[in-house]
Amino acid sequence: MKKRLVSGIQPSGVMHIGNYFGAIKQFVDLQNEHDASIFIADLHALTTVHDKDILSKNILNIAMDYLACGLDPEKVTLFKQSDIPEVTELTWYFNCLTPMPFLERATSYKDAHMKAKDVTVGLFDYPILMASDILIQDAEIVPVGQDQKQHIEYARDTAQKFNNTFGEIFKLPEPMLLGGVAIVPGTDGRKMPKSYGNTIPLFGTDAEIKKAVMSIVTDSKTPEESKNPDECNIFALHKLFLNTDELTALRARYTEGGLGYKESKDMLYAEIIAFFGPLREKRTTYENDPELVKDILRKGAEKARAVVEVKMKTVRAKVGVTL
Ligand code: TYM
Repeated sequence: MKKRLVSGIQPSGVMHIGNYFGAIKQFVDLQNEHDASIFIADLHALTTVHDKDILSKNILNIAMDYLACGLDPEKVTLFKQSDIPEVTELTWYFNCLTPMPFLERATSYKDAHMKAKDVTVGLFDYPILMASDILIQDAEIVPVGQDQKQHIEYARDTAQKFNNTFGEIFKLPEPMLLGGVAIVPGTDGRKMPKSYGNTIPLFGTDAEIKKAVMSIVTDSKTPEESKNPDECNIFALHKLFLNTDELTALRARYTEGGLGYKESKDMLYAEIIAFFGPLREKRTTYENDPELVKDILRKGAEKARAVVEVKMKTVRAKVGVTL
């Protein structure tokens, strides 16, 4: 029996290389050996995106990104979250078991609260919606980047709480983090979420990628000076593209001196273009046929819904709304 794998990405902006190395690459690598269900978390994106044209464009873009990166709809159930209304229904059942202080401890909430942003009920409830995505599908493993690990713990706790209250029905999911690149740094060395403006876009134009690479923040050492690769934001990104031997050689050039940051950035730019070039080419076939992409999402949703309907019958009976 293949293990059930579930994960998703929010269409809250443009897909960046952090999403690729932290998440999509794993989805593609794992799709053969798992019963995989990958979705576009558009309801989660509504916590930040309040423009219908932008949201629908982002949804379609993420679907194209998934396909261009190699997710195969014959192997993976690919859908958008809002096509599965049972997810929000389950969120409500979970909400009614979730103490407010439990959610007040969530990093996503604390971050927003600290920045004195107006926190909506939706943002506050974000981890529970995510728990529903995961638990409704009986996920066993959830491949994510480091920043989502706490959310998987919320899903586990929520499953336990439900099971203790109404009887064993939810499996406890495990996070799966890709060693070494669980956090891909942004151009300023902080992590790379879609909203910090420090991202390197996965499918940007050459000019956009170049601009992002050239904006990587460094110290002001001259080319001649010896540099510490472990303190360099450019080097951190080279690690995603170079093999061990190449990295050892580059490391030596950093410490010996004589390698300027500009040269290192030019090398990184070339690595990115070479790595993503074939994927960018593949993406144009989907860009030219958006109806095909929508059809893939529709079929995926039908398949996913058939599975979650069975689960929800049991859930409804357990909580007592079935007569
Ligand atoms: P999102 O859209 O912020 O990110 C999607 C995935 O990309 C990973 N990621 C990164 N990994 C490494 N380095 C980075 N700089 C980086 N930035 C992003 C994230 O860890 C994530 O795996 N809440 C989720 C979406 C979601 C979900 C789910 C995921 C909704 N429901 C159920 C799994 C299961 C999110 O906002 O991801």
